[in-house]
Parts: sequence; structure tokens; C-alpha cells
Amino acid sequence: MSRAALDALSPDAKAEHDRARRVWHANIGPLRTPQMAALHDDLWDIVETNQQDGDKAKGAAAIDGYPGLGKTTATLVFAREFHRRQITEEGRSTPGGHEHLPVCWIGLGANTTIKGLNQTILDFARTTGHIGSLMTLISRGAGRAIRHGQERLTRDLLDRVKADEGAEQSRAPLQAALDAGRLTPHHRALRTTASADA
Ligand SMILES: Nc1ncnc2c1ncn2[C@@H]1O[C@H](COP(=O)(O)OP(=O)(O)OP(=O)(O)O)[C@@H](O)[C@H]1O
Ligand SMILES: [Mg+2]
Repeated sequence: MSRAALDALSPDAKAEHDRARRVWHANIGPLRTPQMAALHDDLWDIVETNQQDGDKAKGAAAIDGYPGLGKTTATLVFAREFHRRQITEEGRSTPGGHEHLPVCWIGLGANTTIKGLNQTILDFARTTGHIGSLMTLISRGAGRAIRHGQERLTRDLLDRVKADEGAEQSRAPLQAALDAGRLTPHHRALRTTASADA
């Protein structure tokens, strides 16, 4: 708006315009600075190539720099872009109807342990926290089914698998998956179902 156009506003309209400008200025950015673009390029290099599974270590990124340079801001912009891309590619929900959460933001204290980190990730995803135990129960059950020449994970078979207390509590949801016919000892079926339910 030109100075003349501003002067021509009624007092009410001028007050409203100034209020809108204050809000806009308080929330300026994030500006796509060349530094941010360069950082995002580096992050995409790492994220695009970290599809390793099994025992192969994934690449990870650490961002370091002087205080107040915009590390957190640039990372959040990247996280939002990554989130959007994953949702575009994979859809809003899993085949099992669960919401996809491509990005998880976790603040770490100075004395965070690996166990504490995993616990926080699980809390974030609002899972029961027994995923490790559940997976142990499933894999032991699958191993037993294969050894016994049986191609289905039945209740009878799982009841004979020894598991820790966490896994005990996982038997009910697992039974529901079995009842729905979603689990067999086949490698691919297990992997698909496990990730959909995780
Ligand atoms: N690209 C940007 N566009 C607009 N504002 C920005 C941008 N980057 C940073 N800022 C602003 O600069 C301030 C500091 O940014 P930020 O918190 O991201 O820095 P930091 O490097 O994470 O700092 P610290 O080392 O303290 O964690 C914030 O007020 C943020 O809004
Ligand atoms: Mg920061």
C-alpha cells in the first residue's frame, strides 16, 4: 500500500491494517536463505539414500553451528517437507488404517540413554510400549511354526511359546490379528503386518 493510500484509510481501517502488519511481522519467515537451501540439499542426500535395512547402518545427520544461526528453524522446514512428501507417496494412513507419522520430533536431555530415547519414540507414537516383546513373540512363533512344518501361526502354537511379561500382554492384539487372518509365518506377510500394526 502506498503512503497516500494509507493516509486515505479511515481510522478503523488503518487500525485493522496496522494490527495485521504487526502479526505478519511477528511471524516473518522462515526465509529460504542460501544456507538453508544448502543444508536441505545435504539432508536430502542422506535421507534419499538411507533405505538400508537389516544389519546395515543407516546414515544420520548432525547439525552443528553457532547459537541462533537457524539450525532448528531449517530442520523444522525440512521435517515439514519430508512429512509432506511421505504422505504424498504413502498416503495418510497405513493399510491397517493407522495414521502415518513420517516425522517424530524429540527433545533430548543431556543424559538420554538409548533405552530412554526408544521409550520416548514409542510414547510419541502412542503405542503400548510392548512392541519389542510383541515382535519377539511373533518371531518365536514363526520359527516354531516353520520348524513344525506348519504354515499358520495358531493360538495353540503361540500359547506354547515362552515370552516375557510384555509379550504376554501383547497376546490379545496378536490374537486379533490372527483371527483376522493377517498373520502367517511367511516372511513377507509378517513384515507387512508387523509394520502396519506397529
Ligand atoms: N530462515 C529463517 N527465516 C526467518 N527467521 C529465521 C530463520 N532462521 C532462523 N530464524 C529466526 O532466528 C532465530 C533463531 O533461530 P533458531 O532457533 O532456528 O536457531 P538455532 O541455530 O537453532 O539456535 P540455537 O543454537 O540456540 O539452538 C529464531 O527467532 C528464528 O525464528
Ligand atoms: Mg536450536
